[in-house]
Amino acid sequence: SKRIVSGIQPTGNLHLGNYLGAIRNWVRMQDEVAAEGGDCFFFLADLHAITVHNDPAELAANVRSMAAALLAAGIDPAKAVMFNQARVPAHAELTWLLSGTARIGWLNRMTQFKDKAGKNREGASVGLYTYPVLMAADVLLYRATHVPVGDDQKQHLELARDVAAKFNTDFDVELFPLPDPIIPPTAARIMSLRDGTAKMSKSDPSDMSRINLTDDSDTVAAKVRKAKTDPDPLPADPAGLAERPEARNLVGIYAALADRTVEQVLGDFAGQGFGAFKPALAELLVETLRPIKARLDQFAGDPAELDRLLDVGATRARAEAAPTLDSAYRAVGLSR
Ligand code: TYM
Repeated sequence: SKRIVSGIQPTGNLHLGNYLGAIRNWVRMQDEVAAEGGDCFFFLADLHAITVHNDPAELAANVRSMAAALLAAGIDPAKAVMFNQARVPAHAELTWLLSGTARIGWLNRMTQFKDKAGKNREGASVGLYTYPVLMAADVLLYRATHVPVGDDQKQHLELARDVAAKFNTDFDVELFPLPDPIIPPTAARIMSLRDGTAKMSKSDPSDMSRINLTDDSDTVAAKVRKAKTDPDPLPADPAGLAERPEARNLVGIYAALADRTVEQVLGDFAGQGFGAFKPALAELLVETLRPIKARLDQFAGDPAELDRLLDVGATRARAEAAPTLDSAYRAVGLSR
């Protein structure tokens, strides 16, 4: 049966890229997989968050607020195991075991490390470098078969597959299935509203570059109105968007929100300019976010309930992780 595993860093707000690229898929898979008797594990990657400096008090608060955001977006603790990594020590332990298997050459190819470390690579934390090994442990610990993520995590998952395959071969075991990434057909990579060539991200200093799930209707409308575009009308054929990154991004967002293809959306808007398209997009966004925001306010107002749910999730995750971790220790020849 299917085992779905995915995580999100608890830094700042959930934004539209996270939602359309990953979380909406988590919710859809959770319902499907629960009905088929499979299991879903969704977690706050707080161990990943400390690979860059975080204010400790803020990190603790962000774990709660991201848990509230996941619940608001539709994660159901009755159907999926929701927890934070730090409370399941097996993540850190398996990371160490897999560090004997992962190769330096594999890590050296990771584009996210190069992007995040920037020019000062010698000054980057060791954790930022070995980050993908922790990510491999996250999914292999639950013997994941499928991992729903946005396009930017694809390379990390390929590394997780390489680690799984090498571990199985080196120790002659069939312990880890090779996890398949599940990447959405549209919205796999939502771009900044200010620059169609940069990813929408929580680390962009300009809040105008992203839609947060907590933005109110006026803010959403203003961000869409001010989103960078070009003066041309929309084409009938998606090929006409190839050299227009901002236009392509907005049409892609519309298509993902409406659950339609880019072709279908262009069918409705071909020949029209952004003066007509942007208000329609803003309305669709506001409609999508309204129920999420309402639930978010409800959960955010009940920290005791959030803590209780995270407690239940961590207990279940620890129980699910234990046998795989034991097998991994045994496979490498360590008795505990
Ligand atoms: P994170 O926290 O940066 O993002 C969470 C999820 O959102 C997706 N995403 C996007 N999708 C489309 N367009 C965007 N602009 C965009 N920005 C973010 C990400 O692809 C991701 O699916 N390392 C991971 C967290 C993690 C994880 C894991 C994921 C830790 N362990 C194990 C899967 C499996 C991260 O930092 O995602």
